[in-house]
Amino acid sequence: MKISPSLLAADFANLQASVAKVEPAVEMLHLDVMDGQFVPNISFGPGVIAALRPHSKLFFDVHLMIEAPERYLDVFAKAGADGITVHYESTKDPAAVLQAIRALGKKAAVAISPDTPAEVLFPLLPLCDMVLVMTVYPGFGGQKLIPACLEKAAALRAEIERRGLPVSIQADGGIGAANLRDVLTSGVDVVVAGSAVFGAADPSAAVAAMRDVEKIK
Ligand code: DX5
Ligand code: ZN
Repeated sequence: MKISPSLLAADFANLQASVAKVEPAVEMLHLDVMDGQFVPNISFGPGVIAALRPHSKLFFDVHLMIEAPERYLDVFAKAGADGITVHYESTKDPAAVLQAIRALGKKAAVAISPDTPAEVLFPLLPLCDMVLVMTVYPGFGGQKLIPACLEKAAALRAEIERRGLPVSIQADGGIGAANLRDVLTSGVDVVVAGSAVFGAADPSAAVAAMRDVEKIK
């Protein structure tokens, strides 16, 4: 399991310090970019990511919740993204967007919101390093995980195994130690956690609690 804490739940006045708290304990940092169009919320953009870049060696996992993300791929690549995730629902040509991300030398991923079936991603799997199954409606942190979304992760895991493809499955939204076992059982191998990590008094202890769940099969 890789853990990708979502900075959306961190103290926006002290982002550098927030990253430092989790840096030794996690594999990735999840950066939620929201445009007020694709989702009803506005978070932060490439300037904030570029400002953090010199302060962390973590894999920057940039989750674009923006309309027509093809307009901004080069901007986020230059800002310091290591991987870029775009929403299937946000663009007319997801295959072209995934190819454009790889052409920039970055890991490419595509996300599906709760109402989008898993099967739409099957033809795109060879173009992806990761798929993201949203376990809440995108836009806000601190929501409750929708269990039915995990069935889509399981369907994607079965298809990826059947075809022997090197594609990770990420889940994002409402995840913490209490429901992590169900998330992992569905076949997810990259876990995003926002409020469960940065909402905790000790973010690195919250990560350790998640690792303990992984150990108990
Ligand atoms: C929601 C974001 C998530 C969010 C997760 O639109 O994509 O990454 O920050 O936060 P929690 O873990 O609090 O649900
Ligand atoms: Zn996210």
